[in-house]
Amino acid sequence: MIGGTARFFGSVIWTGIRYGVHWKPRVFLSWGIYLLWITLIIFGPRWNLSVLLQFAGSIVGWGGFGAWMGAHVPRLVQLFVFFVLPLCGWLFAHGIRTWIGLKKYQRSIDHLGLKTPTGVTPKVVRVVELENKQRRVLVHAVGLDVAQFRDKKGVLESSFNAIVQEVRVTPSNRQMVEILVSDRELPTLVRFDSHAEALRKPYTFLVGETVDGFITADLCEIHHLLIAGATGGGKSVFFKQALVGLLKSSDHVQLYLLDLKRGVEFRVFGTLKNVRVSKDEATAISMLQRVVEEMERRFRFLEEKGFTEIVPERDGLDRIVVAVDEASVLFTVGKMSKESKAAAEGARELTDKIAKLGRAAGIHLILATQKVVKETIDTRVQTNINAKMCFRVNTIASSMTVLGNKKAADLPDIKGRGIWSVGSNDLVVQVPYLDSDEINEEVSGLTAKFNGEASPLKQKMLQTMAPKKKRSKSNTMSQEEIEQFEAEENQDVD
Ligand SMILES: Nc1ncnc2c1ncn2[C@@H]1O[C@H](COP(=O)(O)OP(=O)(O)OP(=O)(O)O)[C@@H](O)[C@H]1O
Ligand SMILES: [Mg+2]
Repeated sequence: MIGGTARFFGSVIWTGIRYGVHWKPRVFLSWGIYLLWITLIIFGPRWNLSVLLQFAGSIVGWGGFGAWMGAHVPRLVQLFVFFVLPLCGWLFAHGIRTWIGLKKYQRSIDHLGLKTPTGVTPKVVRVVELENKQRRVLVHAVGLDVAQFRDKKGVLESSFNAIVQEVRVTPSNRQMVEILVSDRELPTLVRFDSHAEALRKPYTFLVGETVDGFITADLCEIHHLLIAGATGGGKSVFFKQALVGLLKSSDHVQLYLLDLKRGVEFRVFGTLKNVRVSKDEATAISMLQRVVEEMERRFRFLEEKGFTEIVPERDGLDRIVVAVDEASVLFTVGKMSKESKAAAEGARELTDKIAKLGRAAGIHLILATQKVVKETIDTRVQTNINAKMCFRVNTIASSMTVLGNKKAADLPDIKGRGIWSVGSNDLVVQVPYLDSDEINEEVSGLTAKFNGEASPLKQKMLQTMAPKKKRSKSNTMSQEEIEQFEAEENQDVD
């Protein structure tokens, strides 16, 4: 009986240590300070524990207890009573909370009536609290197909009394099934035109719906943006809606689009007079060079005038946005030809310069990429990009590379669902969707603004044609190289 009780207490405390308590530095610090304080007053010469207990006890008429404790209980035992016991109590409280949570979810799993081939009911081993009112329930289910859980989604939702967002096999342990549960569901489709009125401030674009409402972003505040995620997650759609948003909300903006993988995604934007689209590497590099030259010219201007940053309305200059879809194509130094390698290096250096210095010069970078490894998006570039939109990735490592945490690997498999990360603040969002017909419509609406006589542009577009000799075939990615790149990409990190 006593052994059983001790085992129960021990196992709850152990659960508290393993799951209930997040061993953050703050927790260690708090207990460290408490230990120091308790040691000081127990071993302290004057204001020791006995005196304090006598004082506290006298208020409730138990003054004698403090005196007795001071006189009869060794100081080491006092230390144990006043430090170790509260610590165990605290761990027990966390453990019991976790234990009750596990029992609750276990009952729900029992309701499913599933059994492993050996007749065992799947066991809930852990419930992880996530941000935005989400929880991940880990179930040990050897020999059971994840589809058997998916088929019972309705039963799970009614017994959890919450929304089941996703059921999948844990990537690192095939015997485990993960159930993502949420108290509030984000919509799976958010239409661009339902939120277009949020584009009131210049240089803003739509980000998406969060559990706390719809959010937008201001390019002047975030400066640069990285869009990442596995294939088909919604990078290009987000990219295009962000560009449409920027063009709709702003007047003094020039857009330089580098779309090297296919050259078709952004073709529609090319009809606008304030947009240049480059489809080959040589033109892309020439574009980057002109932008860097313009940046240097702007720095000279700022120095002459004694200003700290470009203000288009005051300085008669436009904000410049350099947007690269499939940035990894431009920067990959893979098994390509010598010229391509040199071109990739050049492009990386120019982009690095823009990422580092562009903000004061009113020059902004938007990079979208499927592959985020240091060979594609230089870590130097990454450290200068504060805002990130990361769609679902397939491995924890990929999520760590982009966000520094595994949140993008935990996302449900919903198109357009991503993590919006600015600084250390991460939010789960459903980003706005607009199809190619809607983009065509939006762009033709914008032609009246930018292509007409009264164009709001403050300066001429930069001359970005590549020198003739550099436009040779060897300097563009050949079909063979694209195919090789795509094959590598599919078996790569994400
Ligand atoms: N916000 C969204 N809402 C709903 N569906 C979306 C959304 N974004 C993308 N999709 C759907 O997902 C498909 C793929 O999106 P998209 O082309 O943007 O992916 P991607 O991440 O750029 O993929 P790749 O890496 O292959 O270029 C779209 O054709 C569309 O059907
Ligand atoms: Mg894409």
